[in-house]
Amino acid sequence: MPLHLRAFPAESAGVVSGWAQTDEEVRMWCGATATVSAEQVSAWAREEGVQPFGLYRDDQLVAYGELWVDDDEAEVELARLIVDPGERGQGLGQHLATELTHLARTRHPRVFLRVHPSNVAALGCYAAAGFEPVEPDQAASWNVGQPVEYIWLSPTGDRARPAAAVPTRRSAVVCWCGQCEEPGEQLRDALRLVVMNPVRRVGQALDAFKIRHVVVVRLS
Ligand SMILES: CC(C)(COP(=O)(O)OP(=O)(O)OC[C@H]1O[C@@H](n2cnc3c(N)ncnc32)[C@H](O)[C@@H]1OP(=O)(O)O)[C@@H](O)C(=O)NCCC(=O)NCCS
Repeated sequence: MPLHLRAFPAESAGVVSGWAQTDEEVRMWCGATATVSAEQVSAWAREEGVQPFGLYRDDQLVAYGELWVDDDEAEVELARLIVDPGERGQGLGQHLATELTHLARTRHPRVFLRVHPSNVAALGCYAAAGFEPVEPDQAASWNVGQPVEYIWLSPTGDRARPAAAVPTRRSAVVCWCGQCEEPGEQLRDALRLVVMNPVRRVGQALDAFKIRHVVVVRLS
C-alpha cells in the first residue's frame, strides 16, 4: 500500500473536520467540546509551532496529524491524529504515528504525545507504534493544570521498562513477553496484582492497555 506523508493543504480542511463524527470522538481527538469546523482545522495550521500533515494512499487523503514543534524546549509533540472513519483498523493510525515520529525526530530528539485516558483505540494504536508511558513524575508534572489526567507517551526502543511503564501509583504491570519463564508479573505500588492474558481491554471495570509486551492495568 503506497502511503505518503505530505504537508497538509488548507483546502482539505473540510474533509478532516468531517472525520470526527460524534461529540465524544471530537473530545478524544482534540479536546474540543463542539463540532470542529473546516475553519477551525485551517486555523490550527496558523498556531505557533503547529505543522499539519496528511497521510495519503496514492492521492487519497486517509489520515491527518500535527507536529507541535517547540524550539525553546527542543521537543516535539504529536497531536490531533485522526484517521478517516472508513479507513480505520487497517494500520493507518499506527503508520501515521510512526511517520510523524520519524519526521519529529528530524526537528528535535524529544518526542511525545498525550492521550485522553478513555481513548482505548488511540492507546492501542500508539502501543502498536512502539510508544510507552513517560516516567510517572514527568506525566504528573505535565498534567498540572490539564482538564484531564492525560496519559503521556513517547516512542522508545523495543524493550519496555516496567518501572517507567506505570502511569499511576495504583497500577499493576503485567508482562507476557514470552521470554519470561512465568507469565510474568511485576507489581509496583499496586493494591493487588492482576494476572491477565495478552488482551487490550479487560472487561469494562478495568482500564487496561497494551504497551509493547507489557499490559498496564489501572486499578482505580
Ligand atoms: C486512534 C485512531 C487514530 C487509530 O487509527 P486506526 O487506523 O484505526 O488504528 P490502526 O488500524 O493503526 O490500529 C493499530 C492498533 O491500535 C489498536 N486499536 C485500533 N483501534 C482500536 C479500537 N477501536 N479498540 C481497541 N484497539 C484499537 C489495535 O491494537 C490495533 O492493532 P491491531 O489491528 O493489530 O489489533 C483512530 O481510531 C481515530 O482516528 N480515532 C479518532 C481520533 C482520535 O481519537 N485520535 C487520537 C488522538 S490522541
